[in-house]
Amino acid sequence: MKLAARVSRITPSPTLAMTATAKAMAAQGIDVVDFSSGEPDFDTPEPVKAAAEAAIRAGFTKYTPSSGIDELRQAIIDKLQQEHGLRYEKPQVLVSCGAKHSLYNLAEACLEAGDEVIIPTPYWVSYADQALLNDATPVLLPTREADGYAINVDELLRSVTPRTKAIIVNSPCNPTGATYDPQTLQAVADIAVRHKLLIISDEIYDKILYDGAKHVSIATLGPEVAAQTVIINGVSKTYAMTGWRIGYAAGPKDVLTAMANIQSQSTSNPCSISQKAAVAALKLGGPFTEKMVVEFDRRRKVMVDRLNGIPGMTCRMPTGAFYAFPNIGGILGRRGQDGPIPSPQAFADHLLKHAHVAVVPGEPFGSKQHIRLSYATSMDAIQRGLDRIAAAVEKLTV
Ligand SMILES: Cc1ncc(COP(=O)(O)O)c(C=O)c1O
Repeated sequence: MKLAARVSRITPSPTLAMTATAKAMAAQGIDVVDFSSGEPDFDTPEPVKAAAEAAIRAGFTKYTPSSGIDELRQAIIDKLQQEHGLRYEKPQVLVSCGAKHSLYNLAEACLEAGDEVIIPTPYWVSYADQALLNDATPVLLPTREADGYAINVDELLRSVTPRTKAIIVNSPCNPTGATYDPQTLQAVADIAVRHKLLIISDEIYDKILYDGAKHVSIATLGPEVAAQTVIINGVSKTYAMTGWRIGYAAGPKDVLTAMANIQSQSTSNPCSISQKAAVAALKLGGPFTEKMVVEFDRRRKVMVDRLNGIPGMTCRMPTGAFYAFPNIGGILGRRGQDGPIPSPQAFADHLLKHAHVAVVPGEPFGSKQHIRLSYATSMDAIQRGLDRIAAAVEKLTV
């Protein structure tokens, strides 16, 4: 079968692929420590499960309005108003099957051939591929570890061309764990307003913050900024609900209407039961997530400390999300049992094969110097996995 050309531009999600390989090895009885998965190991909160059960029992198992039930859209509007002072009407809010789906609807609604999308790099794996699937060109804007992965405003300005359509802002960031300060956000917002760029603000980790870091939504930096921003968020990370598939977008009415039309012709509504569960999740407010973040914080410190203790690795302390992103530059070029290890991909393959530890290599995030490890897993797994990585690195020869 001759496939559409756009298919050849993309690869399967490398994070999902690594997680699937680790799960397949575990199913064969191999004891794999999995640091690849981007999901909390916490169980979905009981009140959320109860709301889903009640929805099933009440027969809330049919199609819903394609853009999401009123109750959930209102809960999202209330959250954005209470936390950020932002005001949205229902037609400005669309509920989708996960934030990834929200981002895809947005890409499909706004991007076309000739458009450029600026993506601060390292970046979450799907941004570039979603742009490519919609015939647009990802423009990778490098950020540096030494600057805490802050966006360099001069470099951002130089990357804007007459074809630039959008810029992605992901704070806290997957994979770096960096959070942007309000000054950086203001500078990005000023440039976006001046050049009429769409701001895609992926705020999926807005509640997973450490060391006093505060989340600022770029949309709060003035009405003219909000008018060009689509906020993307969801319940996956904040409420340990990755499998329920509920994400949402909020932004200018014309963009959201276009996204809603695309959704109505492609997937229709997200799961009715999950929508009821998401209403219960948003009503939970802070305590569930705060408890989870206290535990992530403990694990973060242990993981980063242990990574920094491995010769050849250095790891910055992340201030958000739940990933460590160590620089493995000092390890690249060494030799393992199967030959030289020239790249993060080769190192990740080596760790999986010889140490039974799954990590995600940096390449799909736009880095040839890093690997990503999630610490949203048990302290025991962190200790065992780091023991194995340390032992595997020690065996490498120069
Ligand atoms: C930065 C970022 N955005 C969006 C998503 C998508 O989340 P979901 O589709 O589960 O809501 C993820 C998930 O890993 C992510 O890390």
